[in-house]
Amino acid sequence: MNVVASAPEGLEKYLAEEISDLGGFKIRINKRFINFECDHPTLYRVHFYSRLAFRFYREIASFTCFDRQSLYEGVRDSFNWLDWLHYEKTFNVQVTGRTSSLSHTHFTALEVKNSITDLQQSVWNKRSNISLDNPHFIIHLHLNNNKAIISLQSSLESLHKRGYRPAVGNAPLKENLASGLIKTTKWNGKSPLIDIMCGSGTFLIEAVNQFLEVPINIDQVYLFENWLDFRKDIYLNEKNKAKNKIINYAKLPKIIGCEINPKVFDQAKVNISLAGLENYIELINNDFLELQSKFMPGIIICNPPYGKKLGDENELIFLYEKMGIFLKNHFSGWEFWLLSGNPKLTKYLKMKASLKIPVSNGGIDCRWIKYLIR
Ligand SMILES: C[S@@+](CC[C@H](N)C(=O)[O-])C[C@H]1O[C@@H](n2cnc3c(N)ncnc32)[C@H](O)[C@@H]1O
Repeated sequence: MNVVASAPEGLEKYLAEEISDLGGFKIRINKRFINFECDHPTLYRVHFYSRLAFRFYREIASFTCFDRQSLYEGVRDSFNWLDWLHYEKTFNVQVTGRTSSLSHTHFTALEVKNSITDLQQSVWNKRSNISLDNPHFIIHLHLNNNKAIISLQSSLESLHKRGYRPAVGNAPLKENLASGLIKTTKWNGKSPLIDIMCGSGTFLIEAVNQFLEVPINIDQVYLFENWLDFRKDIYLNEKNKAKNKIINYAKLPKIIGCEINPKVFDQAKVNISLAGLENYIELINNDFLELQSKFMPGIIICNPPYGKKLGDENELIFLYEKMGIFLKNHFSGWEFWLLSGNPKLTKYLKMKASLKIPVSNGGIDCRWIKYLIR
């Protein structure tokens, strides 16, 4: 199978590594997505173990496409719709990209829909209904350079939603972005990990689950279950292996989250316990300035406020200055990783970066910056 996986911008390379470890091959890295090939077990497995992917799409057809007519005919003739899509099954169409004469995605999606339903109608005198919220199939069309690629989306929901986070604090990180950022630190699960402004606890939950390879999204109903070549036996085998996986929590080092805001702290507590990690992540409701370094050096992570408004920024300068001084005074020998969305503020840390990785956090151009605290 040819599969596309979408990724947080800046972390495509890390998704590629992850997919390779899970059994994907012939991997190609692009902006915000990767392409790979895989067999059935791998396709099912990546849904339980990929921590970076938003979604997976299986490519099913491609054809040259300039205009309305070549789109209509290409969709109709390039895939065996009648075997795959019975009129009792619902679907919807999503479109990305454009050609010079197909520039309105809504219109293009309608044309794809018409091509498929006209074909069904001509054979069965009946056609599929469209469902926006709960379809059996999501058909994705990508247009680029007069080429059309048709794919089937494998899950209804984005896979970054893991189900442990009903409560979110201020500016929470997407779970897959948090996981990808942790992956870049190469934290090996042997040294302590502290999030000094942990918000809803996303970094720490993702770090633990990634290190222990805890499967995710096992109990979802997937759209690939509706595909003609769905292999229920293989899927159940992968699912049961994931469900019965023995997780060795005993090997975790000290993991601490610090959050000053009592309400956000309570939300973090809820999330961490929903993730089943309340015995492994210590939460402290305090200013990070009160933290003590009682352990061997490890990694400190932080997604601080960026302060997009001027007033905020002035207040935050003081926070960043305090952070820099505090870390240098108390955590010498540790690594510090900061998600910076505001370079003006970051310079007030007065620390020398040893690595900067560009990433996008919800559309904000950020840098994930590594410092060696001296
Ligand atoms: C951008 S949010 C972090 C979001 C978090 N990564 C998540 O996914 O939910 C920054 C957090 O830092 C907290 N914070 C601000 N100043 C703090 C301080 N001095 N000590 C500890 N936490 C602080 C805020 O209350 C806020 O929840």
